[in-house]
Order: sequence, then C-alpha cells, then structure tokens
Amino acid sequence: MPRTPPAAPAPPSEAPADWDHELAAFGPDPKAAAPAEPGAGPLSSARAALERLSTWVPIRALARRHRHRIVEHLLALDPQDRYLRFGYPASDDQIRKYALGIDFGRDEVLGIFNRRLQLVALAHLAYEPPPLSPSQRSMAEFGVSVLRQSRGRGLGRRLFDAAALHARNRGIDTLFIHALSENRPMLRIAAAAGAVVERDGGESAAWLRLPPDTVGSQVEQALDRHLGELDFQFKRQAHVLSGFVDSVAEVKAHFDASGRADKE
Ligand SMILES: CC(C)(COP(=O)(O)OP(=O)(O)OC[C@H]1O[C@@H](n2cnc3c(N)ncnc32)[C@H](O)[C@@H]1OP(=O)(O)O)[C@@H](O)C(=O)NCCC(=O)NCCS
Repeated sequence: MPRTPPAAPAPPSEAPADWDHELAAFGPDPKAAAPAEPGAGPLSSARAALERLSTWVPIRALARRHRHRIVEHLLALDPQDRYLRFGYPASDDQIRKYALGIDFGRDEVLGIFNRRLQLVALAHLAYEPPPLSPSQRSMAEFGVSVLRQSRGRGLGRRLFDAAALHARNRGIDTLFIHALSENRPMLRIAAAAGAVVERDGGESAAWLRLPPDTVGSQVEQALDRHLGELDFQFKRQAHVLSGFVDSVAEVKAHFDASGRADKE
C-alpha cells in the first residue's frame, strides 16, 4: 500500500521552499480566497446553509462498545465489497481481527445508523504517528464501506467529508485513501473533494490536502456530534417504543385468541 505522498515539484530557485509551496502539489489551496460568484452574499450563503441542512445525515462517532456492530457491518459485505474495502478478499476471521485491532484511543470510527439501528455505513480514520520533524506531513488514512442497499445516496461522500473535517480539526494536513483503480465511486468521492489521485496499475492512491482548522470547523464538528448523538438516542427510543407496541399487540392477540377458544 503506497504511503509516501507524491513528491512535490521543486520550487523555482528564487522562491522559498516553504511549506505552502510544497503542499501545492496536493491540490488547490483551500485558504485561497474563492472567486466571487455572481449573486454571492448573505442570501446565497443562507441558501447554501439551508441546502446543507436539508440533506443532513446523522453521523455518529463510534467507541469500543460498538465493536460488535462494526464486525456485524463488515461481515455483511459480500466478497467483492470486502476485496474493494480491504484490497484483498478478507475472510470472516480477518474481519474480526481487523475490528479487534482498531485502536479507539488513536483512531476515529464514524457510522451512520438506519431507523432500525443497523449500522449501514462505516468509516475508519486511522491516524499515523505524529511526524518527527515539522517538514514531514501529518497523515490519516480513510477507509469506508456502505451496505449495498444504502448505496448511491451520498452516504460514502458524507462520511468522507466528516472524516476530512475531523482530521483537519486534529491538525492533520493530508488525508490518504488507498483504493483499487476499478473502484470508481471511491475515487470519484476523493477526486470531487480535490484529492490528487495517482494510479499505479490496479491500485490507486489519493491524497487530499486539508486546510488548517478554524473556530468554524471545530464548531461544525461539535454540532454534528451533538446532532448525531441526539438522532441516535431518538432512534433508540423509537425502537424501544415500537418493540413495546409489538409486544402489547402480541399479548392482546394471545388473549383475544384464548378468549375466542374459551367461548367456543
Ligand atoms: C465506495 C462506497 C463507500 C461508496 O458509497 P456510496 O454511499 O454509494 O457513495 P455515494 O452515494 O456518496 O456516491 C459517491 C459517488 O460515486 C458515484 N457512483 C456510485 N456508484 C457508482 C458506480 N457504480 N460507478 C461510478 N460511479 C458511481 C456516485 O454517483 C457519486 O458521485 P457523484 O456525487 O459525483 O454523483 C461503496 O460503494 C462501498 O461501500 N464499496 C465497497 C467498499 C469500498 O469500496 N470501500 C472503499 C475503499 S476504502
């Protein structure tokens, strides 16, 4: 699995070989002012915020206690998906070993649950050890899977955006994605975010340069975390309530049936 970012072009002799210049090889500078769009202003930013809210997806940070859900989600992937996710056709045992090996103290695991509390989408953000010198990049590797029935609804992209936000807020400057070259959805997500994609035969590596964190990016993550947690608790209550209603209906049906039998 390639882990060394592509070499940045050598700076011109008169330009200082500074960090910004080196990072320029990883995509456009997110700090650079965006070109003014026609009609840009408070109205269009309010519209953008509304649009974001209307397509909001609750993403939850998972902890050690969710390991069994992670295993369950990954075991539900078919051989082809396992191959795409891990780069090899992972067996059930290999999946269990992978899930057991996730270091929750260092890494981040993000998930999306459906109404039945099934983990339908899962992302693992693996942080590399901090760089030894300021000239080295700080990196995190992104891996993701979405259950087949939940694909094509933007969940993969949402998890990617959330992972990029989390990594950025941890001071990481490069997000790395390893994918098979045939994995068009994954490479599309990475390329759309501005990642530099390098193909090497059947394998591809994508490198996304992240901007430094801001108060806004920290607030955005905190808000997403609270909303994601609220959503999960809400679904859990609804799940418990629906289980209760089902058992009441079952008991009622049982008494109705025995009442009928007594009459007969
Ligand atoms: C990769 C994966 C996570 C994408 O999940 P998803 O929720 O379906 O992705 P999205 O709905 O966010 O779609 C992402 C993009 O891929 C595109 N896409 C989806 N299926 C596609 C296909 N078969 N061919 C080409 N593009 C496709 C979508 O149109 C979208 O692009 P757009 O926004 O420009 O239209 C999912 O396919 C998966 O779990 N695959 C198996 C595991 C894997 O490959 N993991 C990645 C390696 S770490």
